[in-house]
Amino acid sequence: MKNIKVGLIGFGNRGSLYAKFIKENSERATLVAVADFKINDADVKERLAEYDVSNKFVSGADLLNAKLDLDLLIISSMDKYHYQEAKEAIELGYNILLEKPISTHVNEIKELEALADKKGVKVIVCHVLRYTIFYKQIKELIKSGKIGEIVNINATENVAFWHEAHSYVRGNWHNSKESGPQILTKCSHDMDILAWLMDKPIKKISSFGDLYWFKKENQPKNAAKRCFLCPLKDKCDFNCYKFYMNNREWLVPFIGRDLSDEKIDNFLKTSDYGRCVYDMDNDVVDHQIVNICFEDNTTASLTMNAFSRWCYRDIKVFGTKADIIGNFEERKIYVNYFDGTKEEIDINKLTTDFEGHGGGDRIMVNELLDYLLNNKKTDSLTLLHDSVISHLMSLKAEESRLKDGTVIDFNE
Ligand SMILES: NC(=O)c1ccc[n+]([C@@H]2O[C@H](COP(=O)([O-])OP(=O)(O)OC[C@H]3O[C@@H](n4cnc5c(N)ncnc54)[C@H](O)[C@@H]3O)[C@@H](O)[C@H]2O)c1
Repeated sequence: MKNIKVGLIGFGNRGSLYAKFIKENSERATLVAVADFKINDADVKERLAEYDVSNKFVSGADLLNAKLDLDLLIISSMDKYHYQEAKEAIELGYNILLEKPISTHVNEIKELEALADKKGVKVIVCHVLRYTIFYKQIKELIKSGKIGEIVNINATENVAFWHEAHSYVRGNWHNSKESGPQILTKCSHDMDILAWLMDKPIKKISSFGDLYWFKKENQPKNAAKRCFLCPLKDKCDFNCYKFYMNNREWLVPFIGRDLSDEKIDNFLKTSDYGRCVYDMDNDVVDHQIVNICFEDNTTASLTMNAFSRWCYRDIKVFGTKADIIGNFEERKIYVNYFDGTKEEIDINKLTTDFEGHGGGDRIMVNELLDYLLNNKKTDSLTLLHDSVISHLMSLKAEESRLKDGTVIDFNE
């Protein structure tokens, strides 16, 4: 059997996971090149030592300039590099596993779509949820016809207050000019799921949302700019020490694997992750709702909000014969048929692998390798042409939100 030569840009959280899954498939794929800005850092060196990689580069640009003989390039670099790296990789004829977001600009997304078609390369966007057993089960229920015609889907993404604070107030995705709107950076997965499950053309979209809480006017009187100096920190839910001292692994991408009290304390005293959540330069929303109307006037909606204790998604699918209620964290799907019968699907009984987005990350890599080697394409695996829909949904939702909820024609 052919062995796929894999290159990887961005050996961080996502990249390390993909490298691990490639290694699990060593009989059919091998990691031959890695690029990371921190390739010479002790932590990256140590993790990379687990792989016998012959080509190492400091940047994605260097890896691409080397014009290596690759069958697959995984792009898991930071958001702002995705478009340029994907463009150059397509030109080089590489198949690509591309982290989301593809880009924050509609014209760039469309450009990549056309270029991939022209060059005949396969570009798979990491819409990992659709590979999970949970969402595959819902898709199968819909396809079976047992639910009838699907009239409405109602999905919720509960980000959790601590996750919002980490990623969207203090962290990488806190400022829309630097990364993108949260409805894209966080919710392109949810948009992808809605489009995939409904599986019909979209007519129009509208959205409301706001940055309600994490701003200066809500900062308690006497609060300090940094948690370690703050007289109110013991009573504050967003005290960085409360979260990071109990969830140290969240700091690995920034300080490596030495997660001693001293190292964390030093990091929190000097980085954005130790700053007051009410005194950042964040501008992304903390709650947003999106309404979608399909060509046949069926509808779907997404609510994204930061104010939940736990981080989880739930979904309700309403058909003409039954409704489906699913909770991704609980790993349960309930089907209530109008004739009074019920069905309960316990995902725990179908798989034990919930690593990386409920198991979706590993399944995605496995299905991609099957596709590249045997041209075996599953329902979940779609090329750029389909994946761009989620991004257009997010960007048009944001356009609507910024225009105070104006209805946007999806096909304009
Ligand atoms: N599909 C998903 O569910 C999902 C989940 C989380 C993050 N992401 C996306 O995955 C990407 C990576 O996120 P992460 O959490 O792994 O971040 P990370 O900070 O843990 O890792 C990024 C790594 O890439 C390196 N890097 C960044 N740009 C580079 C470039 N151009 N060339 C070489 N090295 C580069 C950094 O040094 C870092 O080591 C982001 O775009 C993020 O939005 C996707």
